[in-house]
Amino acid sequence: MKKTLEFLEKHHDRYEQELIDILKVPSISSNPDNSEDMRDMAEMLKQEMRSIGMDNTQIIETGGHPVVYSEWLNAPGKPTLLIYGHYDVQPVDPIELWNSPPFEPVIKNGKIFARGSADDKGQIYIHLKAIEAVLATTGELPVNVKLVFEGEEEVGSIHLEGFIKEYQEMLAADYVVISDTPMFREGYPGITYGLRGLAYLQVNLRGTSTDLHSGSFGGLVKNPINALVEILAQMKDNDGRILIPGFYEDVLPITENEHDKLSKLPFSAEDFARSINAPELFGEAGYDDLERLWARPTFDINGIWGGFQGEGAKTVIPAEAHAKVSMRLVADQDPDDIAKKFTAYIESLAPNSMEVDVDAMHGGFGYVTDLDNPGLQAGVRALSRAFGKEVDFLREGGSIPIVKVFADIIKAPVLLLGYGLPDQNAHAPDENFSLYNFHKGIESIVYFLEEIGGLK
Ligand code: BES
Ligand code: MN
Ligand code: MN
Repeated sequence: MKKTLEFLEKHHDRYEQELIDILKVPSISSNPDNSEDMRDMAEMLKQEMRSIGMDNTQIIETGGHPVVYSEWLNAPGKPTLLIYGHYDVQPVDPIELWNSPPFEPVIKNGKIFARGSADDKGQIYIHLKAIEAVLATTGELPVNVKLVFEGEEEVGSIHLEGFIKEYQEMLAADYVVISDTPMFREGYPGITYGLRGLAYLQVNLRGTSTDLHSGSFGGLVKNPINALVEILAQMKDNDGRILIPGFYEDVLPITENEHDKLSKLPFSAEDFARSINAPELFGEAGYDDLERLWARPTFDINGIWGGFQGEGAKTVIPAEAHAKVSMRLVADQDPDDIAKKFTAYIESLAPNSMEVDVDAMHGGFGYVTDLDNPGLQAGVRALSRAFGKEVDFLREGGSIPIVKVFADIIKAPVLLLGYGLPDQNAHAPDENFSLYNFHKGIESIVYFLEEIGGLK
């Protein structure tokens, strides 16, 4: 262990330089113009896996952006970790709001600024660098490791479920480990034991075959935008409760133990509101703020359009109206079941004068890791050894839909050891990643491999 820690210190600057190099690649999965960059990124990761001493390193085709895979299986009788992450990143728009170009990483105030620094390339790199240090100094790992890095997380992991099913045997593991979440506060490590799921849909209403003069027709036809807002206004009551029949049927309440853990976290509604310039917060009546954020489902209109949007005025009854809506779900809500319930409710509310259609776009289940799980406890010990602080127990409002798929198919608990920070600006301009967390993160994974190796 001492040798490994000395290695980390000695190679501190090189590790940062190599992080900079991978952050220069514009691996934007949603943009076809970047498909060569996606290949380059996969190739770089493959070379890196090879050079740190992983075996059976390969780029595996999926029909979309490839998976990069490798393994180290020379610890018979020891547990096997499947470490998953994503090497694709979000688009950079609005680029004019970045203070430095998104693919020219710069270090300022101990943070590295670049697209993908926190979400998720900086975090997958933590694992590679920890494995490198342990293999370089001890010649072996205390556990078996399989690395699976995908290139389509930010576009809904389109091909990953098929990949996991096809390679189910190769991917067999005792624990799935993911570093793709933030910590709760700077300096304090956090373990995330719950994620929300998601159901994302588009609603389309059509009233007439063409737009109409609102003088010649108004009063005798129903306006689709009026109809849409009337319908959407019935999704929630004034207390923030969602009115879709059966919506809460499968929602698991949090336990008393969880409630205790949540209420221990230093959370100030005022500071939170200030950080986003909101005059005040709003949420479902009867729940604590963090419970609302992490353990209660939501309904949001993400976009709404139709009719005249130009300068000046135009007296028109539009032919159609549209909205994109999403619901963050919690365990055990099923996204398909929720999409059905939402669609049925919309259809029941729509007036006869409208044609309605609802498209389910994508979705995923939420997830909760058992707090008593020995792997989770090993993670807690490792994080607290590295950061020298007690570990925050967190859930997250965001989603990693593939987590539940891993849990079901690999039949292993998923451990979320995240190293981002609340102000990391993921998906936004000036995305950044703390270098303190990068280095401490590597140290914590060194301990984590040791701790997991000590489990039966
Ligand atoms: N790393 C995030 C997930 C995340 C976000 C975890 C915030 C914890 C807090 C991931 O890359 C992501 O962006 N997920 C999407 C899922 C969507 C593309 C299906 C999300 O949450 O919107
Ligand atoms: Mn991510
Ligand atoms: Mn993301």
